[in-house]
Amino acid sequence: MEKDRSLQPPPPHVLVFPFPLQGHINSMIKLAELLALAGFKLTFLNSHYNHERLVKFNNIAAHFERYQGFEFKTITDGLPLDHPRSGNWFLDMYEEALEMKMKPGFAIDVAKELEIPIIYFRTSSPCSFWVYYSIPDIIQAGELPIKGSEDMNRLLTTVPGMETYLRCRDLPSFCRETDIEDSIIKLYVKQTQKSSQADALILNTAEELDGPILSQIRTKCPRVYAIGPLHAQLNTRLKAKHGESYDHFSNTLWEVDKSCIFWLDKQPNRSVIYVSFGSITSTSREQLVELWYGLLNSKTKFLLVVRPNSVIGKDGEGEDVVVELMEKSKDQGYIVNWAPQEAVLNHPAVGGFFTHNGWNSTLESIVAGVPMICSPYFADQQVNSRVVSEVWKIGLDMKDICDKKIVEKMVKDVMVDQKEEFVQSAAEMAKVTNQSVNVGGSSYSNLDHLIEDIRIMSL
Ligand code: UDX
Repeated sequence: MEKDRSLQPPPPHVLVFPFPLQGHINSMIKLAELLALAGFKLTFLNSHYNHERLVKFNNIAAHFERYQGFEFKTITDGLPLDHPRSGNWFLDMYEEALEMKMKPGFAIDVAKELEIPIIYFRTSSPCSFWVYYSIPDIIQAGELPIKGSEDMNRLLTTVPGMETYLRCRDLPSFCRETDIEDSIIKLYVKQTQKSSQADALILNTAEELDGPILSQIRTKCPRVYAIGPLHAQLNTRLKAKHGESYDHFSNTLWEVDKSCIFWLDKQPNRSVIYVSFGSITSTSREQLVELWYGLLNSKTKFLLVVRPNSVIGKDGEGEDVVVELMEKSKDQGYIVNWAPQEAVLNHPAVGGFFTHNGWNSTLESIVAGVPMICSPYFADQQVNSRVVSEVWKIGLDMKDICDKKIVEKMVKDVMVDQKEEFVQSAAEMAKVTNQSVNVGGSSYSNLDHLIEDIRIMSL
């Protein structure tokens, strides 16, 4: 019998509100699209600044017209539009929030006051979420603060499930502060612990990737939906709906230089190492030169991303070095300001990823089956790189080292000497991860449950 449509409840209306950084916007937009595909009404709340860039560098109108009731709204991030927002401007924002005694996790209080269901989506890794959650226990047990550089390799005993591999060196970067009580870490910890008060928690991972850590998190936050990797889940569902030629949307906040794809087309299979450190990190001129020499000496072809204003040098000379290096390594390397990363990682010529291990980059590499060399900068990246190298064994961790000889050795190890082992373990990891987002896979089913549960919550 035909259902009487007038008796059906209206679709749920979901507000998605990301932290105003590329890494967060990427995964939040994917989530919003997946919910819109399920027929939900969606409002995506962005900062004015980021929305302007999304519109400038992407064909938003064409991509989003497929969804009924998807709208972008904007608010200010508190800075003038012409502010460069380079370096760690967002950490300053955090400091300011602390000074103003802004409550971490304020969104929960607002939702509770308005009596609307709230779901937390932590865009960073589950392993870092679990470490942040455990920090009060680590402090209580006297395992923090870290007692100098000779203490960095000490194993921690107070993070359940990670006792065999988590060292002080692998804790989120903010744990390196000597005055833990006065550190930004407190804000992260409060925000993380507040997650357990939300109606549910979404994590960008698959049961097959992070099962043991998810079990630990579920002891504190009972309703956890592991529905990632989101970019792969969205690709699967868009492909199922629109066929192979579905329109892929990159959500980029910078102008993408696609010329690197033509350069990659001319290189042999698995011969190029892709080098990129995400959307926030800054590199000193000296660090960049050391890295570049290491790459050059490895004799491996490389594709290097250097974002505008991301090299710190005396008297503004940071950027000049890029032009200089580009000129000197024409035959071996290609340098761009911003790459189409997913396409690059999936290009047959790419055989390794030299990465800062931002969570999106890590997941994109896993899905593409590309082994990693990990060079973490801050926040969750220190934990992620440890898991990549020690638990999943799909890469090498170069943490805390900036030495051209080590760069050269690691590149040779991943691209030549231990290539077979790494290619095989990365391929296995890619296989189970990609299965999880296919029909019947764990992330696919978890998303179906989430969609159903949001419908019930919104009645
Ligand atoms: C930040 C944090 O650093 C990270 O640790 C956290 O997990 C999420 O927020 P970011 O440093 O930018 O993000 O790293 P990452 O999470 O890897 O996100 C970067 C995104 O930019 C990726 O999706 C990547 O595909 C994209 N990117 C990067 C490009 O499209 N082109 C590039 O040239 C470089």
